[in-house]
Amino acid sequence: MKGLILSGGRGTRLRPLTYTRAKQLIPVANKPILFYGIEAIVKAGINEIGIIVGDTKEEVKAAAGDGSRFGCKITYIEQDEPLGLAHAVMVAEPFLKDDRFVMYLGDNIIRDGINELVGQFIENKPNSQILLARVSNPSQFGVAELNGNLIVRLEEKPKKPRSDLALVGVYMFDSNVFKAVHSIKPSWRGELEITDAISWLIEKGYAVEPYIIKGWWKDTGKLEDLLEANRIILDMIDCECKVKLEGGSRLEGKVAVEEGAVIENSVVRGPAVIGAGANVSNSYIGPFTSVGPGAKVVNSEIEHSILLDDSEVSDIAGRITDSLIGRAAKVTRSAGTPRALSFMLGDQSEATLL
Ligand code: G1P
Repeated sequence: MKGLILSGGRGTRLRPLTYTRAKQLIPVANKPILFYGIEAIVKAGINEIGIIVGDTKEEVKAAAGDGSRFGCKITYIEQDEPLGLAHAVMVAEPFLKDDRFVMYLGDNIIRDGINELVGQFIENKPNSQILLARVSNPSQFGVAELNGNLIVRLEEKPKKPRSDLALVGVYMFDSNVFKAVHSIKPSWRGELEITDAISWLIEKGYAVEPYIIKGWWKDTGKLEDLLEANRIILDMIDCECKVKLEGGSRLEGKVAVEEGAVIENSVVRGPAVIGAGANVSNSYIGPFTSVGPGAKVVNSEIEHSILLDDSEVSDIAGRITDSLIGRAAKVTRSAGTPRALSFMLGDQSEATLL
């Protein structure tokens, strides 16, 4: 079996971060989201992975490399335009050939991995297997209607969903899917939808099996989703502190501290991760916070937040929460007069003040 990870797309719901970075490379617990997908596929015993890349291909290639660090071989497949998930399958046909494959959307995180469902696909040998999860907001996803274990209908982002079973971004196929992707027409949003390709397989009588997952899963398309993913993943980290704490600092609960970080006169209450070379001084880092490599938190309090690489929070009076601070972004206090708020925010940034 092969793996196919989709890491193209424009990530419009995560602007401004995605103006300068592929959404799949935004870190959760200091690790790019994309890496969770690669690791899950490798854990399921698959070591030939194709990654579909678009505008951000150079950055994705630089991050994931040839795959050797994950124990797999990565082939990059270019998709010139983000014309839909089924279009991505079409573009990957020369790589996938006749092999059965698992397709994994690069912005999805599945806490319990995919071993069990890949195992079931290999054992039962249906033409396709789709993953479903119960959600409270089905109209934001592809939605399946089941009759027992039979899929009656699939609809992409229906206004009036017929069930609460959303399509999770992990699908398994045999080579019959190529007939499907070549037969369907673009949807109202101008994309070749994988949901329509699967519906085509069902209509033509191919065996498509549903697999309902019980564990936590997230499509990390928005800020709230990223913070939630950060929360869930931080809860699973191993506590390890690779540095000596300085000046009366304390770590409480599950905290991982990477090499070269400096923690000085501060309290870090986990679950939290402090990245390599980060600097936390006279500060409080509260639960569910990821402090990225090289980031600085000085004379401040922050919790339930993600600080990307080399960002800085210093001398802030109130506690910062529910925030995502971009690479090398700075949140500081002005020393002089006039005592005023001053900003340089990128396009589509958000600042919420007391
Ligand atoms: C895509 C699929 C949708 C699926 C979702 C899961 O949506 O089209 O059926 O439920 O991924 O993440 P998109 O994220 O492209 O809007």
